[in-house]
Amino acid sequence: MIFRQRHLLDIESLSVEELTAILDLADRFLEISERPIKKVPTLRGRTVVNVFLEPSTRTRVSFEIAEKRLSADAVNVSGAGSSTSKGETLLDTVRNLEAMSPQIVVLRHQEAGAAHFLAARIDAAVVNAGDGAHAHPTQALLDCATLRRAKGRLAGLQVAIVGDLAHSRVARSDIVALRRLGAEVRVTGPRTMLPPGLAELGARVVPTLAAAVEGADAVIMLRIQAERAGGQCLFPSTREYARTFGLNAAALAGAHPEAIVLHPGPINRGVELAPELADGPRSVILEQVTYGVAVRMAVLYLLAGSPPVE
Ligand code: NCD
Repeated sequence: MIFRQRHLLDIESLSVEELTAILDLADRFLEISERPIKKVPTLRGRTVVNVFLEPSTRTRVSFEIAEKRLSADAVNVSGAGSSTSKGETLLDTVRNLEAMSPQIVVLRHQEAGAAHFLAARIDAAVVNAGDGAHAHPTQALLDCATLRRAKGRLAGLQVAIVGDLAHSRVARSDIVALRRLGAEVRVTGPRTMLPPGLAELGARVVPTLAAAVEGADAVIMLRIQAERAGGQCLFPSTREYARTFGLNAAALAGAHPEAIVLHPGPINRGVELAPELADGPRSVILEQVTYGVAVRMAVLYLLAGSPPVE
């Protein structure tokens, strides 16, 4: 078996073979979501606890649907309704959950490193569903799966990532995954939103939206993650931001004629992305969401010890 990970914490830990194995398996699982009865018995009798201590719509629902389609028993814990709001530490919460013997814990947390911290301390497999501004590996995997399906390959693709890279765990994981799978990545955004270290990750930093988009096969737009900026305002006004780094049809005209547009969601319409593009024929944003379920099914399946696919 190519897949040797006990946890899925970040993209850096995965070899090219492991990344490819997840994408290939996701392609197979995509078909289950197209069946009239969207359920296979593969993870019957296994328990997965989804601990979401930060807001989430897509990722949370996607994990839960993936677990249900594989017949796992899925249990959800959210921040506001849990004892973390009574002052319990993350480790105590999860140790108590672990005493109920889940096989997998899926964690979304506001602190970078939370998933690594847990993985070193509990027996269950840990899946990082987003930790602070650090990593969001399943989002990067679903972005790669969507791109690979739309373009037929990843090697040699020119991908632009635009916006608030400083606070984007999605961008960090995307850059590492895309580079590892052979794509070229250009990034841009306001100077205040470009953290150091992007070049070390393998991205080419360019100064303008036009430079990032020029000839690109795909453009991944990012939301301004104000909630992670600690109250700091990193750009003069929303209107100014939309004018300089917002993607609209005129800006996309510089890309490859068949370029596609991605966004991890939630979209701030009219800020980073014009509605006509979000809803237009070049958008694969809802395909990303569909692939999200298949990719998470693949990850859960591989971490659960690869029972036979039925
Ligand atoms: C992203 C996240 O939470 O990191 N959304 C997601 O998981 N689909 C991006 C964002 O919040 O802007």
